[in-house]
Amino acid sequence: MVGASDGKFVLPLAQSGYDVIAIEKDPQALYGGEVLLPVAGFAYAPGLVERLQEANLRHRVRIEAADLLDADPTALQAEAVWTSCSWHYSANQRRPLSEFVNRMQQLVRPGGLFGAEFMMAVEERHHSVEHYTTPDRLAGHFAPNTWNVLLTLQTDPFLERAHVGQPRDHTHRMGVLFATKHPDNHTKGGSSLDEA
Ligand SMILES: C[S@@+](CC[C@H](N)C(=O)[O-])C[C@H]1O[C@@H](n2cnc3c(N)ncnc32)[C@H](O)[C@@H]1O
Repeated sequence: MVGASDGKFVLPLAQSGYDVIAIEKDPQALYGGEVLLPVAGFAYAPGLVERLQEANLRHRVRIEAADLLDADPTALQAEAVWTSCSWHYSANQRRPLSEFVNRMQQLVRPGGLFGAEFMMAVEERHHSVEHYTTPDRLAGHFAPNTWNVLLTLQTDPFLERAHVGQPRDHTHRMGVLFATKHPDNHTKGGSSLDEA
C-alpha cells in the first residue's frame, strides 16, 4: 500500500488475512495526533500503528515510515501494489509523475497487479500539473512489453463533504487504472517505453 495513511485499506486487507506492506511518510497518519474536524473543532485521531494494535493486526503489517520516492524498491516488492489519491500531493509534484509511477511499478513482482485511484483535474490550477492525470495519459506509462493494462475508469466530477484537512465541501474527479506485470518480466522498472 503506497500512501497507507491511517489504514482505510490496510486494516480490511490485514483483517482478510493478507500480509501488507504499508508505505507512509506522514508521522501523524502513522502515530496519530490532533486533527481539526470541520464542525466539532480539534479532536484526537489515532494513527495506523494504534489502529492496528487495537484490531490485533499489527503482526500482519510491515510499516515503512518513508517517502516512496526515496525508498529502496527491491526491499518492498509485493504481489499487488495499490495507491489511493497519493501522487498529487504537493511534495510529489517537485518530481515528474513518471518517477512516482515507475517507483510503484518497481514494487510489483512479475505476474503481479498494479492498481491506482487518483485525482483528476477539476480546478483551473490543476490543469498545468501533470500529477492530475487522466486514465489514458497514465496508461502511456505502462510499456506493453512489460504491462497489460486491464482496466481504466473515470468518474464525472462529484461533490465531497468537508473532512479533516479540507474544511469546505469540494469537488473531485477520480480516475482508476489496473495493470498486471508480465510474469516473465524481471526488469527493475517497467514503465519505460524504450524497453520494447
Ligand atoms: C489521500 S491519502 C489516502 C490514504 C488512504 N489510502 C485512504 O484512502 O484513507 C494519501 C496518503 O499518501 C501519502 N503519501 C503521499 N505521497 C507519498 C509519498 N511520496 N510517500 C509516502 N506516502 C505518501 C500521504 O501522506 C497520505 O497519507
